[in-house]
Amino acid sequence: MFKLRSLVTALALVGSISVASALETLPTVAPAPADNPTTQEKVELGKLLYHDPRLSSTGTVSCSSCHNTMLGGEDNRANSMGVHGQTGGRSAPTVWNSAFNTVQFWDGRAPSLEAQAAGPVTSPIEMGMKSWDDVIARLKTIEGYQVAFEEAFGKDSITKDNATKAIASYERTLITPHSPYDKYAAGDTSALTAQQVRGLHKVQELGCTSCHSGPAFNGPGVFQPFPIHSNPVFAAKYHFKDDKGLAEVTKKADDEHLWKVPTLRNIALTAPYFHNGSVKTLDEAVVVMAKTQLDKDLSTTEVADIVAFLNALTGQFPKQSMPVLPTTPGRTFN
Ligand code: HEC
Ligand code: HEC
Repeated sequence: MFKLRSLVTALALVGSISVASALETLPTVAPAPADNPTTQEKVELGKLLYHDPRLSSTGTVSCSSCHNTMLGGEDNRANSMGVHGQTGGRSAPTVWNSAFNTVQFWDGRAPSLEAQAAGPVTSPIEMGMKSWDDVIARLKTIEGYQVAFEEAFGKDSITKDNATKAIASYERTLITPHSPYDKYAAGDTSALTAQQVRGLHKVQELGCTSCHSGPAFNGPGVFQPFPIHSNPVFAAKYHFKDDKGLAEVTKKADDEHLWKVPTLRNIALTAPYFHNGSVKTLDEAVVVMAKTQLDKDLSTTEVADIVAFLNALTGQFPKQSMPVLPTTPGRTFN
């Protein structure tokens, strides 16, 4: 009896080892570029800037308005709302695990988190500041920021470059390891339900993993066309092709409808889906992907299994606390 049980255990172990070698867990620390090593002081300053609505022209919008770190790192809206209630054509992606993206934005136009962070502040429909010079002038008048920048970067260091570096350093702490999938990948075969395991096998068998694989399910390649197979029903309902993706930036015909492959981590928490937020449920997003990317019609059971698996990609969120922002006693910017 004992012998039989240890044989079964040994076989189970062999099974889990072969699974573990194919599946990758999310690292618990995000890589940082050589010119911006992560330090506690930068992270703390970045957290202040990230949550400060005074980085917007109206004093009403901060990074966290559209990328809420108390939730899934975005706003669950099809199109985010910036200053004066304006909306753009794209849905806010999650900031959780954005540190694991090779490039940033749906169309990948920013090469790093540092480069990305410079954009929204002066975007007329997001945070609406006239220029970074105005932002820096504003920050320089706030004593608490003088102290926080000095701690992070040294004396007289309030610059755009340092502000974006600090924000990026904070974002590199926004990672969610230890999902049921990660536990399974590390060898705990009981971490996924039988249905989730069926879903995992299904995404591999169908070829979802040809685009969504690796620890964040956003590689190995960076850009992929979407939609690959045109579908008149989806075209009429979801207007995926109205936005030309990478070609909007490069103006090259070859780049039309090329998109960065987004992470599937925490995907259950970030509805609505796709670059224009046109698809409201995860079930429908899976149906759309199978049809447009792989030309496959899925059964209801297959969809349910895949969605169950995708739910196993919801990680553990590190405890968040609201920062106390530097005050401006006796005055205001608005
Ligand atoms: C008004 C809403 C809004 C505000 C404010 C905003 N963002 Fe975004 N963010 C978006 C939208 C929408 C996108 C996608 C735009 C695109 O791809 O063209 C985006 C993209 C991103 C991405 C890329 C993620 C990915 O997976 O590609 C990061 C990172 C990010 N924002 C961080 C920030 C930071 C940091 C701030 C503050 C400095 C900020 N955002 C302010 C709406 C907003
Ligand atoms: C040929 C590459 C490719 C294949 C195969 C593929 N995807 Fe995608 N996936 C993408 C791209 C690119 C996007 C972003 C599309 C957009 O909104 O512009 C995406 C988006 C998604 C989204 C929405 C992400 C979000 O944040 O809104 C989900 C969910 C998804 N894929 C799941 C799947 C599943 C499940 C399969 C298999 C049935 C699959 N994908 C197959 C490339 C692919």
